[in-house]
Amino acid sequence: MVVWSRIRKDFPVLNQLYEGKSLIYFDSACMALKPIQVWEAMEYYYKYLGACGGAGRSTHSLGAETSLLTEQARQKVTSFINAESPNEIIWTRNATEGLNIIAATIPLTKDENVVTTTLEHHSGMLPFYKRCTETGSELRLVEAKEDGTFDPADFEEKIDDKTKIVSFVHASNLTGSVAPLEEVVRISHEHDALVISDDAQFAPHQKLDVRAIDVDFSVISIHKAVGPTGIGVLYGKYELLEELDMFLVGGDVIEDVVYENNKITPKYLPPPHKFEAGLQNYGGILGAGAAVDYLEKIGMDNIHNLEQKFSRKLLEGVLELDKFEIMGPMDYKQRTALVSFRPKSDSVNHNDVVEYFNELLPQHKILMRGGNMCVHPFQYQIGINPRKGEGVVRASLYIYNTMEEIEIFLGELENFAKVID
Ligand code: ALA
Repeated sequence: MVVWSRIRKDFPVLNQLYEGKSLIYFDSACMALKPIQVWEAMEYYYKYLGACGGAGRSTHSLGAETSLLTEQARQKVTSFINAESPNEIIWTRNATEGLNIIAATIPLTKDENVVTTTLEHHSGMLPFYKRCTETGSELRLVEAKEDGTFDPADFEEKIDDKTKIVSFVHASNLTGSVAPLEEVVRISHEHDALVISDDAQFAPHQKLDVRAIDVDFSVISIHKAVGPTGIGVLYGKYELLEELDMFLVGGDVIEDVVYENNKITPKYLPPPHKFEAGLQNYGGILGAGAAVDYLEKIGMDNIHNLEQKFSRKLLEGVLELDKFEIMGPMDYKQRTALVSFRPKSDSVNHNDVVEYFNELLPQHKILMRGGNMCVHPFQYQIGINPRKGEGVVRASLYIYNTMEEIEIFLGELENFAKVID
């Protein structure tokens, strides 16, 4: 059994008073807090190693241990998402970088198309928009339904034999809706199209099994999974990674650069090193290994079950007040523990809500994000106009939150609703 109160103690940021108030952190969809175990892993690198790792670089003791630990961390991520081999795990700076690598390196011709959706985070659509603009290929958009869910028939309509890749958000950072990735993979593969899933908001919350889903590529932001900032993961099936073009070139990606007859001929390393040019974020990689260890130790099923309870209480509580418009599906089971909402009253906007909860409560600071969550197209689609300064407030929860915090939040939201009436 998981003792959640013990988990919470691993996050000292929550055990402090900030400006004399206790903190309720409801912004984990942007950035998860970090447990002590993650800093300790990073501290070990910075305090006791501090050297460079990587094949063919420094082979002295500190370099060798750095290489060993970073490859162990790669193995941990391999198990975390059930990839077949650590050679399918590429370290990136974040999920955005992973999406850019695929968009930039996948062969694409002008008569081919790319399919994505209106619900993507900008990082899931803009790299493909840019590439399609450069190649003259068509970018096709599947419209999410008003509640952020999808109709697989819409994918059937947009994906055809000329579709090269489908970029698809597995769990939305705006609506919290969890999408039918298996179905999209099935439809795509029927047309020999590849699928890249944006798992930034999925992998920290539910077991991601890339082999069971049979997705071709996936990206994860480790900072949303209790890990450090500046480190992400790109997963790709090995044979596909082998075929892709280089992204960044320079040190660490080459086996040799031959010089003959006043010409150079590089010979590149196979994946994953082929995509990891230059010195790596070794401290971050060790932190990533500790983060996935931490989540695995709790158990992804336990995390999902806890979040379903949060999702239900939060969704039903905000709904019951009847003063806020809620984004996303009304069935808590179709969501992660995240609710985006905005006041029905025109007298206040999302920024007022964020500020009220951050500044004006007597005993607490309830920290939430407000704005457009980098998902402008979907907001335009459902009639929220970012250009007019319209937006939403998002409460997003994780393993260190409690039911009591949700009760405090709902009580304060009720008070707020009375003020704006
Ligand atoms: N950082 C982005 C968010 O807050 C993904 O939703």
